Amino acid sequence: MPKVIIDCDPGIDDALALLLALASPELDIAGITTVSGNVPADIGAGNARKVLRQAGRQDIPVYIGEMLPLGGTYVDAMDTHGRDGLGESFLPEIPGEFPEKTAVKFLEETLEKEEISILALGPMTNLARLFQKRPELIGRITRLVSMGGSFRSHGNCSPVAEYNYWCDPEAAKACYQLFAEAGKKIEMVGLDVTREIVLTPNLVSYMERLDKKTGEFIRKITGFYMDFHWEYEGIIGCVINDPLAVAYMIDSSMCSGFDSFLDVETEGICRGQTVVDSMNFWKKKPNSHVLTETDAERFMSFFMSRILNKEVEQ
Ligand code: BDR
Ligand code: CA
Repeated sequence: MPKVIIDCDPGIDDALALLLALASPELDIAGITTVSGNVPADIGAGNARKVLRQAGRQDIPVYIGEMLPLGGTYVDAMDTHGRDGLGESFLPEIPGEFPEKTAVKFLEETLEKEEISILALGPMTNLARLFQKRPELIGRITRLVSMGGSFRSHGNCSPVAEYNYWCDPEAAKACYQLFAEAGKKIEMVGLDVTREIVLTPNLVSYMERLDKKTGEFIRKITGFYMDFHWEYEGIIGCVINDPLAVAYMIDSSMCSGFDSFLDVETEGICRGQTVVDSMNFWKKKPNSHVLTETDAERFMSFFMSRILNKEVEQ
């Protein structure tokens, strides 16, 4: 079974992604690392532990990562995810110190020992810090699946930018550049596909009917997120981006796309935009696999059957 490290910023949809990963026997989770994104990395680490408690998996270590983006200026997404990052559910904190080892150190030491995959569900700050210091470790990564960016879709925090890459564009740019130099590709699960994944109030009610404990947890953390979507986008329900990246890592047929060279803009009104050279103007070797199509219904029944532990015909 391939080992995976989940680098995330929990975050409501990160929490759902963690639940999905924890319910999936295909993934052997070596650890969870957090990064400042939706909430500061230390609050995110506390939230990761809350999800681990919910899933009965407190054996998995959580490491706190970079508090600030490479450029130094940090903008959280508490307007979307709540002051606690979990939709103002204010679930009780889990007592206990966090390991002193930083997320970057944990990633570095793990990759020195073995080949692993990485699921990146937040800004790419930890990964950029690691790859800038130890670019040779990129060769030890089996797969890097990153939720972020977009190809044709509009952005979700500027007309053209997706939050994870917008929050730390220098980090995203560095990761794609260093992957290009290493001759490897990052699998980009961006807004083109994740926008399709909408968790509705009806689905949450049905989850509660099928599995009270899990359904209740999901209701508590998603209400705030749904209100945000209704108020700002007129959507009934909430777009859950991160779980699709988990599903795609487990089963690559969940999304399809194409290989391309990709760069990230770091300045001006297009800050955070992913520039995908789909027409090969630059004649550069692809450093990304850009996902553009998915089957939302198939994903949702996969997601529900996994987190509610109910076998259904896929
Ligand atoms: C991404 O940004 C965050 O708000 C979500 O957790 C997701 O990772 C979507 O743009
Ligand atoms: Ca996230």
